[in-house]
Amino acid sequence: MSLFSPVTLGDLTLPNRLVMAPLTRSRSGRDGVPGDDVVEYYRQRASMGMLTTEGTYPSFAGQGFVRQPGLVTDAQIAGWRRVTDAVHAEGGLIIAQIMHAGRVSHSDITGAPTTVAPSAIAIDGATHTYDGKAPYQVPKALAADELPGIVDEFVRAARNAIAAGFDGVEVHGANGYLLHQFLAPAANHRTDAYGGSPENRARLTVETTAAVAQAIGAGKTWLRISPQHNIEDALETDPADALATYLAVVDGIVALGLAGLSVLHTEPSGELVQTLRTRFGGPVLVNTGFNAVTTLADARAVTGNGWGDAVVVGRPVLANPDLVRRWSEGLPLNEADQTTFYTEGHKGYTDYPFWQR
Ligand SMILES: Cc1cc2nc3c(=O)[nH]c(=O)nc-3n(C[C@H](O)[C@H](O)[C@H](O)COP(=O)(O)O)c2cc1C
Repeated sequence: MSLFSPVTLGDLTLPNRLVMAPLTRSRSGRDGVPGDDVVEYYRQRASMGMLTTEGTYPSFAGQGFVRQPGLVTDAQIAGWRRVTDAVHAEGGLIIAQIMHAGRVSHSDITGAPTTVAPSAIAIDGATHTYDGKAPYQVPKALAADELPGIVDEFVRAARNAIAAGFDGVEVHGANGYLLHQFLAPAANHRTDAYGGSPENRARLTVETTAAVAQAIGAGKTWLRISPQHNIEDALETDPADALATYLAVVDGIVALGLAGLSVLHTEPSGELVQTLRTRFGGPVLVNTGFNAVTTLADARAVTGNGWGDAVVVGRPVLANPDLVRRWSEGLPLNEADQTTFYTEGHKGYTDYPFWQR
């Protein structure tokens, strides 16, 4: 299949197979309300087959980054409504990524006394708070009877996303955040029904995804996973365990009929991704990045070889609002400037030039 052919994912038909990856940009102020710059940033990128927002928090306790946008308050919902209206006015599609950061945060960011996680294990490292750099804290291990509340937060945020005009929602089960902390044996030392075996570690991701799908419709629900990403100490170093864990995720969600399963992995053609894809049976989106920036050749290989139905692309679309045109016409690309990934203001955000000629 060509990258530039349409594809139907659940309730949506995308004009091409290039999907903008969720990219945290920290431009939404302390109140987490997307403003004019955020509206403009997403509007500029509306020619992608579909846009995924940066990770948005479903509760204040779930916030991971300074100036991250939320899907909690009326003002945040109203801010996102302006974004979705602008993207739709350009003929685009946009879904919201819902991300509970769990222990990848800090009290100074969330305002809560501690961070939360499956187990009381701190990440070895530091994060950026409003007051500067601070070591990660030892999180509070969530009690089993607190987990339905976490699922409810995702459901409320998903409903808020639909109220804000989004075309769907992506549940963030990747990159070391809360759901991934439950999946990864190094972060989850629980001995209850949510820890130990692959099925138990998969349970919260499955329950959350199912509840969101039930609330807003499976045809509007995506799940993102990143098996073996080994980030933020959410280590998955045993290949057999990783396969069993993510097969448990897939087996738990397969009957829902989701719009898509989005997989971040460096080897899209490898056994893990392709076993998951076959078992899932529905649309699979692939992102090959993280060590190396996704290239046009990478993207073409995914759809050309049938490794996935669509390609998720991050940094190239961050730096090239007109990436679809540039890649389809073989035009040169702007380079992404890492120093402005998480800063404030227009620079490195809404000022990447379109191709003029
Ligand atoms: C600045 C930046 C912010 C990111 N924020 C998120 C995020 O909020 N949620 C998420 O799932 N992944 C996030 N990622 C990972 C990207 O979605 C993507 O997987 C990664 O950039 C690799 O793809 P690429 O090589 O096409 O850039 C982020 C990556 C970057 C560079």
